[in-house]
Amino acid sequence: MRVLGLETSCDETGVAVYDGARGLLAERLYSQVATHAAYGGVVPELASRDHVRKLVPLVRETLAECGLVPADLDAVAYTAGPGLAGALLVGAGFARALAWSLDIPALGVHHMEGHLLAPLLEHDDLEMPFLALLVSGGHTQFVHVEALGAYRIIGESLDDAAGEAFDKVAKMLDLGYPGGPAIERLARAGDGARFRFPRPMTDRPGLDFSFSGLKTYVMNTLAETPANAALGADVARAFTDAVVDTFVIKCRRALKATGLRTLVVAGGVSANADLRAALAALGTDLGCRVVFPPLRLATDNGAMIAYAGYRRLVAGEADGAAFAVRPRWPLDTLPAPHPAR
Ligand code: KG4
Ligand code: ZN
Repeated sequence: MRVLGLETSCDETGVAVYDGARGLLAERLYSQVATHAAYGGVVPELASRDHVRKLVPLVRETLAECGLVPADLDAVAYTAGPGLAGALLVGAGFARALAWSLDIPALGVHHMEGHLLAPLLEHDDLEMPFLALLVSGGHTQFVHVEALGAYRIIGESLDDAAGEAFDKVAKMLDLGYPGGPAIERLARAGDGARFRFPRPMTDRPGLDFSFSGLKTYVMNTLAETPANAALGADVARAFTDAVVDTFVIKCRRALKATGLRTLVVAGGVSANADLRAALAALGTDLGCRVVFPPLRLATDNGAMIAYAGYRRLVAGEADGAAFAVRPRWPLDTLPAPHPAR
């Protein structure tokens, strides 16, 4: 089965073709970062318009790259949520119309299930159950993955997502948007001994997170400290260390509490090299396997949607002719794959 995957939930237009027998055939990504940079964050209406402009050319390019025509496709998978309603509708409307015109099934995919399954694209020996740490711009969650579609959220952020905290701290440091990669670069030059920021919610039991207090702590530190050339880098270093340490403490706790031996880390923040190194070291320490998606599949992309769609479509699942997007959509309400009724 050959599946076209479309991702349009936020500020990236992602397109890919996944073939059940041959794997990923081609992928294309258009990032809207330049469009939104001047505003310091994603402007939903501009995001929708850019998806409208870019989606069809990207689909043409992706198909051309793997030498396919639309009639060679067996199904279309698209992100149906969570995300920006207008941006989601662009992908959903196009996907449904294309599928209808080709008389093939279409399926709306949960964006976080896409992130969750992305590491399997390059680690096909990975078996469920496993523990997943999903860290993106909108979500920070521990998921006990029992099987495809059987997801138990066993911890999550009570306020800001980790990516959101990176983006907000980057804004305070005038690093622009998106903040994660900029903080990662700046932190490399920082002195880790100058500041020590709190590791939120690590001093009490449980697997939940909170990043809003840490953000305020950074803001106060910047207000109280006379600026010098090193301040930004030292703050970026201390902030990164606090976030990474928090994840190491909580991942150790979650692996012990669940007894699971595999940790899958996915979502945009899983691109962070400091986080990768620290969690890989934790894996060595505990004798657990720690898996990350390849860098290009850590942030939003079409390949993860094509793949997640494929896993459900082969089980016979598909949408009806009507469709709806779900800007808010809890991951743990997803059903196991089920044939169309
Ligand atoms: O998964 P993603 O691409 O989109 C959402 O589903 O939200 O995640 C985007 C988030 C942004 O907050 C961005 O700042 C963060 O991931 N991010 C990073 C890095 N690359 C992206 N955070 C820390 N370090 C990075 N290298
Ligand atoms: Zn995402």
